[in-house]
Amino acid sequence: MNKNPSNPLILVPETVTQIFAFGHVLAAMVWLGGGMFTAFALGPNIRKMPQGAALEFNARVVPNLTRFIQASIGSTLLFGLLLLYAVSDGDSSWFSTTQGEEVSVGIALALVTAIMAFTVTMPAFRKVSKAAAEALEGKQQGPPTEMMANAKRARQGSMAGIILLLITLATMVAAGF
Ligand code: HEM
Repeated sequence: MNKNPSNPLILVPETVTQIFAFGHVLAAMVWLGGGMFTAFALGPNIRKMPQGAALEFNARVVPNLTRFIQASIGSTLLFGLLLLYAVSDGDSSWFSTTQGEEVSVGIALALVTAIMAFTVTMPAFRKVSKAAAEALEGKQQGPPTEMMANAKRARQGSMAGIILLLITLATMVAAGF
């Protein structure tokens, strides 16, 4: 996909572009899918579990889940940037095309979502896991109000992230047509 053949240094072969696109879309599916699964399937059902089981789940499974989603965020951004370089052929005038403008809106939203995930949502999930682990070890004192506040923050952060990602997805798909 070389739209700028005068500069051979930035020529990205079609197959490589397709690999970037595959990696990007796969990672984005895992990010959005993982977020939706956590918010709509896991979250409501954890609340229905017996307290001991919910604490075990929060202490042992949630840290792995958050790491998995963090990896998908990193891969979406990494493959997205590589794909961006490939489809624009390193030509900044590409950003003023309709396709470029749509992708730019998507990138801005994706970056806001990623920053929110790393600064608000993931830390809230980590605090819930830590409090659950402490409760299992009998270290927690008093009612788990802080844990519930963090669980609420994690839920709200996940929902906001899902909404932003759905809009990002719409702009990315629009750019593809
Ligand atoms: C910094 C973040 C991102 C960058 C740099 C980026 C970049 C790109 C680029 C350059 C394309 C190719 C567009 C085209 O062919 O016209 C693309 C396609 C795509 N992106 Fe992203 N993207 C990012 C985040 C995301 C996120 C968060 C999602 C999902 C929620 C996403 C989903 C997609 C999809 C599904 C396509 C394929 C669209 C199609 O061909 O129909 N991207 N992205």
